[in-house]
Amino acid sequence: MYELYPYFTNDGSVGLYSPEADDIYHSTYGALTEAYEKFIIPANLHEFLKKNSEIKVLDICFGIGYNTKSFLNNILEFIYTEAIATNNKNIDKIYGDNKKYKIFVHAIDKDKILANLSPFFISDKNNFKNNKLSFKEEKIQRMLSEYTKQNFSLKKEVSYLLLDKLVNNIDLETENLLFSKKYSEFFDRRLITFYRLLKYNKGKIIPEHNLIAFLHNIYYKYISLRYKNALKPLKLLDFNLKLDIDDARQALKIDNNTYNFVFLDAFTPAKCPCLWTLDFFKLLYEHLEPNGMILTYSNSAAVRNAFLSAGFYVGKIFSESSNKFTGTVAVKDKSLIKYELSEYDLGLMKTKAGIFYRDENLNGLNEAIINRHKHDTENSDLISSSKYIKEFRRKNDI
Ligand SMILES: C[S@@+](CC[C@H](N)C(=O)[O-])C[C@H]1O[C@@H](n2cnc3c(N)ncnc32)[C@H](O)[C@@H]1O
Repeated sequence: MYELYPYFTNDGSVGLYSPEADDIYHSTYGALTEAYEKFIIPANLHEFLKKNSEIKVLDICFGIGYNTKSFLNNILEFIYTEAIATNNKNIDKIYGDNKKYKIFVHAIDKDKILANLSPFFISDKNNFKNNKLSFKEEKIQRMLSEYTKQNFSLKKEVSYLLLDKLVNNIDLETENLLFSKKYSEFFDRRLITFYRLLKYNKGKIIPEHNLIAFLHNIYYKYISLRYKNALKPLKLLDFNLKLDIDDARQALKIDNNTYNFVFLDAFTPAKCPCLWTLDFFKLLYEHLEPNGMILTYSNSAAVRNAFLSAGFYVGKIFSESSNKFTGTVAVKDKSLIKYELSEYDLGLMKTKAGIFYRDENLNGLNEAIINRHKHDTENSDLISSSKYIKEFRRKNDI
């Protein structure tokens, strides 16, 4: 039977461990916070939405969906703020049935069960606060909110939006986990109830598969007028999700779309090199809009070098809350880069550490890609990264 290895991360969202990859999916620092800091804040979606009403996103390694969830949350924050500014009550009059924002997310992951469980995982601090915390946990929580100065929590609508798209994919194996007592503290019980109603009353209650209609019929009628009004801006959103359960290389080979934002959240290059190769990045180049941006948490010199060699301009992601560089962006339009690679970063890419992974036919096994990389590194004449770092420090007196 499929086993889950969940834990609560420090912002109250659930993280997972993968025994297969012997790696964690999410840092204990905060799964949701991490998604915001590494992908959503640097993407600067609100700026993008001021000029565009259509966004296409590619979420590579969807997992339990934190990047897509944070993305949707951020879009809703924008729509709600705008709706308040234009007087919420008149939304129906202004837009009628016209959807103002068209959002398309193409999510890819090899793990079907996790992807289908994604709407249900607890992901907000309020839930965390309701749990009994030890003295130490409380201290960590306080320190973290001080540290991030942000309070990321997901709107309920985000989970409903996802569930609405995934409800028909949820099979018995997924339900066994969802309804199992063993994992119950990690799932949002309210959403499970909602799912049961949605799934097992289908046809009777929902005239068509539509979230707003559903909210109206079941949930909506029990909620306050204030919340009903608050939900109105949701009508402006035309949200579509395509979930591919596949190896990302194969899914993208047959995909004709181009994207404005690509979130690349694979396990580290040493664990999952097949999604960090020059050849995969060349494939991503074909899928990026001219004004598009690929975002990833990796700071690796080999990853940056592979992006450069695939034809991208490459820059860094800077997190103001942690005052650190926390990842890499790859773009076609150089003006989109906010933080350029430094002389040190560029030098490091010319050492052995900058030797990237290869997978010409885009179907190599991770072990084979690792072995080839090891061979390339051992037979290279480039200087080692440690020697380079030593020399760089000496020259710059640091
Ligand atoms: C670090 S986790 C991603 C976490 C995710 N973004 C989230 O919010 O939960 C890495 C994911 O990569 C998936 N994966 C591993 N190899 C893959 C491949 N070749 N193609 C697609 N997905 C892959 C795993 O199933 C796992 O869900």
